[in-house]
Amino acid sequence: MKEELLAIQTKFAAEIDAAGGLASLEDIRVAAFGKKGEMTAILRGMGALPAEERPVIGQMANEVRAGLEEKLAEKKLMLSKAAMDEEMARQGLDVTLPGVKRAMGHRHPVAIVTEELCKIFMGMGYEIAEGPDVETDYHNFEALNIYSGHPARDEQDTFYVEGGRVLRTHTSPVQIRYMENNRPPIAIVAPGKVFRADELDATHSPVFHQLEGLLVDKGIHMGHLKGALTVFAKALFGEDVKTRFRPHHFAFTEPSAEVDFSCFSCGGKGCRICKGEGWIEMAGCGMVHPKVLARCGIDPEVYSGFAFGMGIDRIAMQRYGIPHLRLLFENDMKFLQQF
Ligand code: PHE
Repeated sequence: MKEELLAIQTKFAAEIDAAGGLASLEDIRVAAFGKKGEMTAILRGMGALPAEERPVIGQMANEVRAGLEEKLAEKKLMLSKAAMDEEMARQGLDVTLPGVKRAMGHRHPVAIVTEELCKIFMGMGYEIAEGPDVETDYHNFEALNIYSGHPARDEQDTFYVEGGRVLRTHTSPVQIRYMENNRPPIAIVAPGKVFRADELDATHSPVFHQLEGLLVDKGIHMGHLKGALTVFAKALFGEDVKTRFRPHHFAFTEPSAEVDFSCFSCGGKGCRICKGEGWIEMAGCGMVHPKVLARCGIDPEVYSGFAFGMGIDRIAMQRYGIPHLRLLFENDMKFLQQF
């Protein structure tokens, strides 16, 4: 029995060493440990041994079995690894190569500048408000004293959509929506897209962005408006920036003005960016028209307010030296990746 065990051990050990693949290794395992395997037969025959031989032979048989099983397991691991290596070589796949790097997203320059502008006003106590891109005629025009016949209502300038609605031509309707639902004191800025039926060129686009501002409280006057926009100008372009207010006309403010900032690039001497003017036009503004306040249920005898609206795209263009408005709307990755 002993000899038989030793012979089996030697034979299977040699066969395992010689096995060239996983399939032949499995054949060897079945020949040894399968139902009709040689080791299985020996282990089963244990019971027939004389009682005094059983412990010795039993222990030996267990050792042989454990040794062969371990050898099988080792060889199996080796052959699987070899099979995997071969498969990888065949597929030409090198898993040790570094992975493909995922490109990081970039924030759009208009989004960066919008956030910057909002942060400045938030620092002055303003809250952010929003309104819909598709507006009612009432909110976009009527409530702002822009009555029928006003040139701004011309179909050449305004995108009309079904149901008599319009794509808002400015962010001023957000003033109305906010005042309809809130009582003074009010201090908000409202960033957003606006739409006008313009052809795309270096300085015009059918869609662009504005930041609207509105402040309503008791005793608000033009000095507050000048102060707010001057503080804003300095926060945006630095302490040396000056502001200039020129009389203008808007239907929904009285008096109305346009505000210029001294050129951030040349400091007012005149350069290519300010077209030799020394000043850059920044916003339309004025004191909220009493009729506009009244229409929203705010008593103009008690309250007054100022409003302003500025173009965001142009600030982004100036900030980053972007030569053509088109670049802000084309979503060309090569351009956007620079931000
Ligand atoms: N809504 C005006 C425009 O689009 C700008 C503006 C806003 C003017 C608020 C005065 C007050 O040009």
